[in-house]
Amino acid sequence: MEYVTLNNELKMPILGFGVFQVPDKKECEESVYQAIKAGYRLIDTAAAYTNEDAVGAGVKKAINEGICTREDLFITSKMWVQDMESYETAKKAIDVSIEKCGLEYLDLYLLHQAMGDYFAAWRAMEDAYREGKLKAIGVSNFYPNILTNFCETVAIKPMVNQVELHPYFTQEKALETMKQYDVIPEAWAPLGGGRYNPFEDGMLVAIAKRYNKTVGQVLLRWNIQRGVVVIPKSTHVERIIENIDVFDFSLDETEMAKIASLDQGYSGSRAKHFEPDFVRGCLAMKIHD
Ligand SMILES: NC(=O)c1ccc[n+]([C@@H]2O[C@H](COP(=O)([O-])OP(=O)(O)OC[C@H]3O[C@@H](n4cnc5c(N)ncnc54)[C@H](OP(=O)(O)O)[C@@H]3O)[C@@H](O)[C@H]2O)c1
Repeated sequence: MEYVTLNNELKMPILGFGVFQVPDKKECEESVYQAIKAGYRLIDTAAAYTNEDAVGAGVKKAINEGICTREDLFITSKMWVQDMESYETAKKAIDVSIEKCGLEYLDLYLLHQAMGDYFAAWRAMEDAYREGKLKAIGVSNFYPNILTNFCETVAIKPMVNQVELHPYFTQEKALETMKQYDVIPEAWAPLGGGRYNPFEDGMLVAIAKRYNKTVGQVLLRWNIQRGVVVIPKSTHVERIIENIDVFDFSLDETEMAKIASLDQGYSGSRAKHFEPDFVRGCLAMKIHD
């Protein structure tokens, strides 16, 4: 595994395992366990995925079997918008996430969206970080203007910004802003999130063939070579194993540029952060009473 160093000197694996849209507890637990067995050390969940407990169960199983120690792992979760109402609701949400994961601390906790009173929520995150409950704190879906204002305002700058990053939405400007504030970029939907059909793109297939790799591996390698952390999701063991096998080849400059030329300049996902209806939908989404 290769690592990036966060602005607080913590090491974070450059490749991890995502569990979005794995609501079935048994399936999630088994996937997390298989991922750790395959060598993944970073797991990415969120309060909104309602599977923090299943992630915790998979982690516990792997530790109990001696596959790794807690210290080897980098467990990430995220605070949902519902809890970003005030300092107090945010403080409680952090404790609930830690408890649901069955852990004493989380390695990284993110504000899932720049919505609600995210400055109040951040102050609760800063305090939990100071107390050692969270080893690193960060944000997600903070576009360049929001991230800039945020970094210029808060006491502790975010260590990570998790945003949509893949060849169809390369977000070069977002990466520049993150670099300026020493915020590590983390890619959600690094395989395209089930959209765009990259697996049948002739150019990607040809590059994959050249290295005896798959298109999925090329997509992950492309982001890694840009210094972006990737967290592919799969519930299939053979793909879980395939997606971590990306450290024995390098794309050349021409290939990196060719892949980047797929950029459409906008997100094709349902997460439309610039649409008022999407924002209202997130604000209305309740994950607990
Ligand atoms: N912060 C946010 O707002 C946000 C938003 C979205 C996602 N995320 C995080 O980012 C993680 C990854 O994003 P994502 O799950 O949306 O998308 P993704 O990892 O880009 O793609 C997952 C899709 O690709 C398939 N797949 C996985 N490996 C494959 C392979 N080797 N070949 C072909 N298909 C493959 C999966 O199917 P199978 O499972 O059937 O293999 C699934 O349909 C999430 O799990 C979550 O942790 C965060």
